[in-house]
Amino acid sequence: MADAAALKRQAAEAAFADLEEGINLGIGTGSTAEAFIRVLGEHVRAGFKVAGVATSQRTDRLCRELGIPMRTLDELPILDVTVDGADEVDGKLRLIKGGGGALLREKIVAHASAKMIVIADETKRVETLGAFPLPIEVNGFGLTATFLSIRRIAETMGLSGEIILRKVGDDPFITDSGHLILDASFGRIPDPEAMSAALHAVPGIVEHGLFIGMCSEAVLAGPNGVERLK
Ligand code: 5RP
Repeated sequence: MADAAALKRQAAEAAFADLEEGINLGIGTGSTAEAFIRVLGEHVRAGFKVAGVATSQRTDRLCRELGIPMRTLDELPILDVTVDGADEVDGKLRLIKGGGGALLREKIVAHASAKMIVIADETKRVETLGAFPLPIEVNGFGLTATFLSIRRIAETMGLSGEIILRKVGDDPFITDSGHLILDASFGRIPDPEAMSAALHAVPGIVEHGLFIGMCSEAVLAGPNGVERLK
């Protein structure tokens, strides 16, 4: 059976094959996005023309190291395509993202793109979102009040589960935009639209990792090849 790294590379190559030269490209974050960046770097070195906008400082650094021409989103505010990974994708192309902590910039970049292509190995495909803890980017001010609001939302929807502050060692994880992340293990999110709307109504929540109506195509690699969900 193909190993995880090989599947990520396979999904990355399949997504790259659909890209046209000269596009303005949003570039995702995470290990699968990194496989894509390496594929893209090889093609750029062979002459492929592209302008990239990164979804995180980490992605920006790697792209520049590999010689991919990078711009800021303010320099290129309208993007043709974004290629990014995901933590979960369901049959309606709804996603959970943010396992790598970049969900806010990922969502801003995806929203600025005409098309979002998700690349993943087939284990990311789920029937119901929510087995992966939902990352919620929050302002540090009023953290406990925001935490309680999220718990109330979950209870109203008949959900329970731990909500924990993401840490790196003993310190809170800080996002590229200077916020914190709460990871909410609801187990299942049967109505992602309702959850998304309820979370957006909490002032302390900057953004959450439910991506709804944003993904145009998921390229999923498995031992039997690549499947495309549209
Ligand atoms: C980062 C993300 C990643 O795309 C997501 O966590 C998937 O990562 P990986 O490809 O490493 O499994 O949303 O914020």
